[in-house]
Amino acid sequence: MKTVNIAIDGPSGAGKSSISKAAAKELGFIHVDTGAMYRAIGLYALRNDCTEPEQIVQQLEKIHIELKFIGGVQRVMLCDEDVTDYIRSPEVSMAASKVSAVPEVRKHLLDLQKKIASENNIIMDGRDIGTVVLPHADLKIFLTASAEERASRRYLELREKPGCPSYEEILRDIQQRDDNDMNRETAPLRQAEDAVLVDSSNMGFHEVVEHITALIKETLD
Ligand code: DC
Repeated sequence: MKTVNIAIDGPSGAGKSSISKAAAKELGFIHVDTGAMYRAIGLYALRNDCTEPEQIVQQLEKIHIELKFIGGVQRVMLCDEDVTDYIRSPEVSMAASKVSAVPEVRKHLLDLQKKIASENNIIMDGRDIGTVVLPHADLKIFLTASAEERASRRYLELREKPGCPSYEEILRDIQQRDDNDMNRETAPLRQAEDAVLVDSSNMGFHEVVEHITALIKETLD
């Protein structure tokens, strides 16, 4: 059976995951958040003190990543432990950004990502989905927003929480991750030639979900 594959790429904080999740729910598709896989490897690297490229490569054989979908919601398993709730801290974000630049780490996850896409109707989000993982996706979307807008959204989300970083710190963090993701040698973040650009800088959440859902429905017609 031919499955429907939608690729959504874009920088950190552009809302790819929450928007993909909402659109997938509306369409009855599975949402695959590939960033969570890199985050799980980042968590492993922090826990085992092996964040340097050559150290993480040595450990790869032991790092077993699996995705489970419970009621359509993704859980990420690291060596049979559900780590979904431990991968969103700033430390894990930075470790994920670092390990994701290592070609062997990317290769380690590629077959699993392709397999999930071949077996399910999916919206898969990440950085290299349209360019590397699913070059023949039915539709590719590049979802972006300015770094300032992404930092300000994140700041609004976090500001009530204790120990919230300043807007400037959040902006610096986003710019550093953009720089890592766009300038690495293997599978850098870039818009695929045949991707539709969606700039959400001046759009609300629901507006973006509606726009993307409409683009997908048009593709399926
Ligand atoms: O989307 P995210 O912030 O959860 O991703 C975490 C890190 O993983 C981020 O630094 C980019 C990297 N990543 C990647 O290199 N390729 C993907 N397909 C998804 C994420």
